[in-house]
Amino acid sequence: AGLPVFKNEAFTDFSLPVNQALMEAALRKVKAELGRDYPLRIGAERIMTGDKIVSVNPGNISEVVGRVSKASLGLAEQAMQEALNSFEAWKRVPAAERAGYVFKAAQLMRERKHEFSALMIVEAGKNWAEADADTAEAIDFMEFYGREMIRLSLTNEHQPLTKIEGEDNRLAYIPLGVGIVIPPWNFPLAICAGMTTAAIVCGNTVVLKPSSLTPVIAHKFVALMEEAGLPSGVINFVPGSGAEIGDFLTKHPKTRFISFTGSKEIGLRIHALASHTADGQKWMKRVIAEMGGKDGIVVDETANVEQAAKAIVASAFGFQGQKCSAGSRAIIVEAVYDKVVQLVKEETEKLSVGLPELNCPAGPVSDRQAYDKIMDYIEIGRREGRLLTGGDKAEGNGYYIQPTVFVDVDSKSRIMQEEIFGPVLAIGRAKDYKEAIAMYNDTEFGLTGSFFSQDEAHIHYALDEMFCGNLYINRKCTGALVGVHPFGGFNMSGTDSKAGGYDYLLLFTQAKLTSRKT
Ligand code: ALA
Repeated sequence: AGLPVFKNEAFTDFSLPVNQALMEAALRKVKAELGRDYPLRIGAERIMTGDKIVSVNPGNISEVVGRVSKASLGLAEQAMQEALNSFEAWKRVPAAERAGYVFKAAQLMRERKHEFSALMIVEAGKNWAEADADTAEAIDFMEFYGREMIRLSLTNEHQPLTKIEGEDNRLAYIPLGVGIVIPPWNFPLAICAGMTTAAIVCGNTVVLKPSSLTPVIAHKFVALMEEAGLPSGVINFVPGSGAEIGDFLTKHPKTRFISFTGSKEIGLRIHALASHTADGQKWMKRVIAEMGGKDGIVVDETANVEQAAKAIVASAFGFQGQKCSAGSRAIIVEAVYDKVVQLVKEETEKLSVGLPELNCPAGPVSDRQAYDKIMDYIEIGRREGRLLTGGDKAEGNGYYIQPTVFVDVDSKSRIMQEEIFGPVLAIGRAKDYKEAIAMYNDTEFGLTGSFFSQDEAHIHYALDEMFCGNLYINRKCTGALVGVHPFGGFNMSGTDSKAGGYDYLLLFTQAKLTSRKT
């Protein structure tokens, strides 16, 4: 009661000098704090280990963002025991009170939002608008899931039961237990905060293993939850290697669920490991996985070609294409193919590459491994299509790659089929919109897609036939908003969950029916 209805956090307008000054001040503050050591956190303990994950600025690899203590298997086990103990008390805390901690954290983050964004600018290589959107989404997830838990806790609000004479029947959504939360580096605040707060607001406790590329911003989030007064042991923070700590926690008999966002390969590995029943395990583990995409934009002959080209470029190259939602394919019908290709070339060449803190539109990719992989795909692209623009590394003391476009690419080619997760766009030609949509659907993924057209019949066909979790008409295929565009895809894109949607919390709860004679 008294809670304002959910509303998305507004994005910051950095064309205003006042907002530029605020971001510059936040960057100075973050820069002054670079290179610190951070502990892992188990219950109320902060533990410094000798073994550290060194987080480096991908846009300036001489700059160390921070050194984060790495968990051993022994410490991961200790974190699990702490989460198990804390669960006994946390599950009894009323839903509205649990939500209260999350609302408090959202408020604190809002007050210092540029500081969170500035840290992502240096740790993840986001430009200002991308970082600001990430922070806004983190706030949104917290505000949204807090409200959702309150709604779920109201008797029979979510699922009104059929009434019968002589009984009082109720459905309660109770927590599962200890969850392992493994978020990605590409939305290192939004998705980390979203996955973690969704789990805890439902009454679960978690062991959070952040991405090894962005552990400092994850630590800042965990510290914020503590500042918001969250009881210790509800979130236990154990940075470490995925192969070691991630596997150990996934296989642990006391793990009740694993919530993962990341690559298809790791998602499938977690799914396989979790399906095995460990000695002493009393449940079937639940896996919630959001994985990759090979998303695309289809353009027909009636489309507004200027808008389509802008959307193709924004979807392909926003955050250097390092989004599961990135539009890494464009499929264009013959009649407007040359025109759209020309416009895409012009738009792409406007993207200057450089340091994120200077707010260059195109920044670095995440790390050396990603850089090498993307450069390999560019070589593959040279054999599979015609290079339209880019195709090389870019200047800078970091992992910079030119926004790259290949045209005349066959739908079966590797750069049309495999997720590259970098600034590489493949464009293919179709004879008509139906063939274009068939090419769009020719993928093992099914996350996002866009269709550009002004023909109602074509649009209806696309709405029915394009097989993806988030389908957009006449707009880009990235930038889903919490509560507005529940986000998640089909097939190899994951377990069909919808982050930021009204059924997401059901994944972290189980429903208990009580029937009482009256
Ligand atoms: N939810 C993010 C987007 O829609 C990944 O771009």
